[in-house]
Amino acid sequence: MNELQLRKTQTAVKHIILEQYLQHWGSIITMGLRSTYKKATAQGWPFSITLAYIDPFAYQGLYRDSENTNIVTYGSPIIGIRTLDNIRDTAHSKAGFTPDVVSILIEIDKNNFEILLGTLKRLGYQNRLRINPNLTSLENGDIAVIHGDLHKHAASLLSFTARKYLKALFFLDPFGPSGIPLSIVRDIISRQGNDTIINYPYLTVQRGLQPEHITNMYGSEIWKKANQKQGCSRENCLVEDYIRILQGCDQELAIKYIPLMFPDKDRTIFDLILTTYDPTGALAMNEILDNAKLREYELRIRWQSEKYTKRTGQLSLFSEDAFQSTTSLSRPQIDEIAGEIYSQFEHRTALYRDVLRSLVNSPYYHKEIRKAMTQLKKAKQVEYPGSLTHDTMVKFN
Ligand SMILES: C[S@@+](CC[C@H](N)C(=O)[O-])C[C@H]1O[C@@H](n2cnc3c(N)ncnc32)[C@H](O)[C@@H]1O
Repeated sequence: MNELQLRKTQTAVKHIILEQYLQHWGSIITMGLRSTYKKATAQGWPFSITLAYIDPFAYQGLYRDSENTNIVTYGSPIIGIRTLDNIRDTAHSKAGFTPDVVSILIEIDKNNFEILLGTLKRLGYQNRLRINPNLTSLENGDIAVIHGDLHKHAASLLSFTARKYLKALFFLDPFGPSGIPLSIVRDIISRQGNDTIINYPYLTVQRGLQPEHITNMYGSEIWKKANQKQGCSRENCLVEDYIRILQGCDQELAIKYIPLMFPDKDRTIFDLILTTYDPTGALAMNEILDNAKLREYELRIRWQSEKYTKRTGQLSLFSEDAFQSTTSLSRPQIDEIAGEIYSQFEHRTALYRDVLRSLVNSPYYHKEIRKAMTQLKKAKQVEYPGSLTHDTMVKFN
């Protein structure tokens, strides 16, 4: 067991975020389909939904848990499979139906692939494994394990996720010499049924990637200008440009940036980026991050930067003085949130979905935003019929 890689704190944190977001994503989808399911059953119509977890940079599925022990802990593929199974098992009592589940894991390195297979078999998934399958043949419960390069499998992965009644969560956690080309990321994130967690590989960009691979990742040579920009570090400029490029793929996307800092160093552990068409999902990440902090990882999340943005009126996603300790931060006041929403949308009409999307990089929880909207309605600063849904048109007076 000694040859197993140690799961570092940063990897553990990444795993917590993956697990909790995936769980939340599954609940939002299944709970959101309750009435569709009831209606379909009442009318005798067919109903089905498949939830897919897709991990194209799978690694071995296994780590050593701490420096001095042989206790093992599991990597993203196992977390994905287990969480998806849990969503399936609990959906019936909560939502009335059981979704189908499929996982697809890709690993380029032969040794990692073999260890991953061994891990899956030891954990009892033998009967569900489909090794190097044709993805069109996948069925409920299947775990596809592919030895290969994401670049070569991207097209079949995308036609798999283009299936009707399928929602997919992609975990893009690259490490290696070639990064992920924008052409692939663009196709993944632009499909309405896909949510994507991207681990932006700053350190690899910084140290390991050939210029042509970085250019592929950005879709142009814009990254070369990161050193020349004023007012943000090279890392922040690079990530900010990358997020702008992702947003350019579709303005409807909610993109949440999640920089996580080491508590004792002025350095990011990693830059996660979440893309989703459901802004409530992106806002749920705030609660997930707070929970992760409660689990004593003490992450300094970007939080104060919202105050920075408000203070300066700048829309920059980043600020060098933004990363302050969050240990004693309390929840924002509802009237503060109401004021912020109102000042952004004053004299305009907007879908509630767009209001939420404008706030995905705030630290607010969705329930706080709803309260703020109710407060604005009572004060007659906004008008909308009935109770708020994503498609409610809101008039700001
Ligand atoms: C950072 S590790 C993934 C860790 C894993 N997500 C976890 O959290 O347990 C990245 C993995 O991607 C694999 N990889 C790199 N480039 C790849 C590619 N083009 N296609 C498939 N796998 C690739 C590497 O061999 C490595 O095992």
